[in-house]
Amino acid sequence: MKERGFTRIGFILAAAGSAVGLGNIWKFPYVTGEYGGGAFVLIYLATLALVGLPLLLAEMTTGSLSRKEPVSAYEDLSPEGKRYWRFAGLKLFTGFLILTFYTVVIGWIFYYLFISLTHLPATPEEATALFMGMLQEDASTQIFFHAMAMLIIGAIVYRGVKAGIERINLVLMPALIGLLLFLFFYAMGLEAFGEAVAFMFAADFSRLSGEAVMVAVGQAFFSLSIGMAVLMTYGAFVDKKTRLPGAALTVGAMDTAIALIAGVVIFAFLFQLGMEPAQSVGMAFISLPAAFYQFGAAGHLLAAVFFLALAFAGITSAISILEPSVAHLNQRYRMNRAKATWGTVLVAYLLGLLVLLSNLKGFEWLSLGERNLFSWFDFLTAAVFLPLGGLLMAIFVGFITDRERYFHQLHEHGLSRSAFNLWIAALRYMVPLGVVGAIAAKVLGLI
Ligand code: TRP
Repeated sequence: MKERGFTRIGFILAAAGSAVGLGNIWKFPYVTGEYGGGAFVLIYLATLALVGLPLLLAEMTTGSLSRKEPVSAYEDLSPEGKRYWRFAGLKLFTGFLILTFYTVVIGWIFYYLFISLTHLPATPEEATALFMGMLQEDASTQIFFHAMAMLIIGAIVYRGVKAGIERINLVLMPALIGLLLFLFFYAMGLEAFGEAVAFMFAADFSRLSGEAVMVAVGQAFFSLSIGMAVLMTYGAFVDKKTRLPGAALTVGAMDTAIALIAGVVIFAFLFQLGMEPAQSVGMAFISLPAAFYQFGAAGHLLAAVFFLALAFAGITSAISILEPSVAHLNQRYRMNRAKATWGTVLVAYLLGLLVLLSNLKGFEWLSLGERNLFSWFDFLTAAVFLPLGGLLMAIFVGFITDRERYFHQLHEHGLSRSAFNLWIAALRYMVPLGVVGAIAAKVLGLI
């Protein structure tokens, strides 16, 4: 590896930048709303501790042990003659698929940044018309902002891990935290703040279902960026001084804290105006803009801050999804970085264009069954591929590789033997249980 790696703080912020994304601010609050608030939050926290964090550490450690791009890392750490690296290609492919629809959503965010400053919708009806109009009828706006998102992401990644990815995270992550805290303090002054906190933290177990558990597992994977070799790729560039168990905990804590803060902020604004929580995907793009409108001039500022935070969160995540493919082409096939980046971006852009079009009227041919391409990619990656990718990682580290190598590395980072054994047990039993249970439940429609 020619390139210099991350600094300690750079690694943590880049990993947190990957984890904290649209999943936290856009997805977490609405699934929490749909699945009953506090009880869902509790299950999510349990999943995070038992399944999410062990996998996060497994990915980071695997990357740092091999110091190579993901496919070569699997190859290196496999026992002699075993070809587990073949599965790693699936992970790169999954990341690539996520990138295609993720950037479409970032495009919407850019457009809404512009809307925030110019013409917020006055009522929920207007807000719905505005969003659906963009989504289903306005191809050119979406195409313009989607292309912009792709260009920005490519421009960061092609500069490399240090000069591109680390540098942008050092700026955008503190900025993101500042913007969210601003919204949080503002929300604290609202009457509905207490109601929002109660909704997020008071557990109503009657609304809990098997489906909620499955959604929580999927959300934990998506939100922590696990299951598709992103943290493995970043882990390959880790500095010797970085202690991985601490880094994994910090990233998990930041990811969760930001999701919870975003949830409280969003619900406080909605409840303040007597709106309902479960509006599905539309919460960020429909209910919230209409809520902000009611705040007059301040509303424009609040909306702009919100969408800027969302844009920053999205960009730092999208670059992390692009990096594994770029590292793969760059290191394994010796393609230069610029070519690897722009080549991947171009293909992702073209496929993304189809994803974007699949939401438009007149493009029903881009649907299969009840789902269009956008919804298929979202569903397949989050509900199937990511959990499978995580399962592969857990089996690989839990059963297949030389565990002493992992112990040696993590022990140097301060992990005791018993903590190590607990970690292995989580990988061997908790992760497969969580993943297989979740997929079976979904596929068989049991719950
Ligand atoms: N974690 C990001 C979010 O919460 C999305 C993301 C970035 C991701 N990289 C990933 C999801 C890798 C799965 C795997 O929005």
